[in-house]
Amino acid sequence: MGALILVMMAAMLLAPPAAIFTMADDPTCGCECPQQCEINLHYYLHQFRAGPNHPNRNEEFVTTGGPSGLGGGLIHDWSLTTGLDANVGIVGHAQGWHIVASQASPVNWYISHNFVFQGSSYSGSTLQVMGIIQGSEEGVGEWSIMGGTGEFTNARGNINYTVVKREDVEYIRELDIQVFYTPSTPSDDQVAKNITRRN
Ligand SMILES: *[C@@H]1O[C@H](CO)[C@@H](O)[C@H](O)[C@H]1NC(C)=O
Ligand SMILES: *[C@@H]1O[C@H](CO)[C@@H](O)[C@H](O)[C@H]1NC(C)=O
Repeated sequence: MGALILVMMAAMLLAPPAAIFTMADDPTCGCECPQQCEINLHYYLHQFRAGPNHPNRNEEFVTTGGPSGLGGGLIHDWSLTTGLDANVGIVGHAQGWHIVASQASPVNWYISHNFVFQGSSYSGSTLQVMGIIQGSEEGVGEWSIMGGTGEFTNARGNINYTVVKREDVEYIRELDIQVFYTPSTPSDDQVAKNITRRN
């Protein structure tokens, strides 16, 4: 009983005075609100497919899955470039995995990967990307940007992809990337001056 009274007294002491709440009619924001920015990027994603005679592959099977294919998955380290040539203008890699996550045929793949940027103005920054690849491979699809680091702190957005090359050994996806993010350093603010601003 004594303990209960002590807890109640502590709660009363900790509770802020009611006056603080009635002072909230001041419309100015007490803190400096960070600037939110939008940027549109256009890249190509190079998947060199796994296979017994594919020495240049940039993905490996890590699970085989069941009879329907469900659960079969690969780890990938696909390259991101500014053009169709896989060896020119590399701006980073898409590192993650894709795994068969449906029992229907054709299967759908679950994909989750980090876009790790290097050798560009976004070097050291990442985007966290997830979504599906439809097994029917109509050649187009959309992924979500769920977050980011560095330049892309607090990122969100989406990526539309279109398959522009589909061969046994290599797939190329053309990416239209739209990112909203909140720069967190002075240099980010500099870069932000060149791109669309939003509040
Ligand atoms: C992706 O496609 C949708 C639907 O066509 C469109 O609304 C959206 O703006 C596109 N996003 C990008 C980043 O191109
Ligand atoms: C902004 O754009 C101009 C013109 O393209 C360029 O010269 C300048 O370096 C850019 N600044 C930053 C910080 O990206």
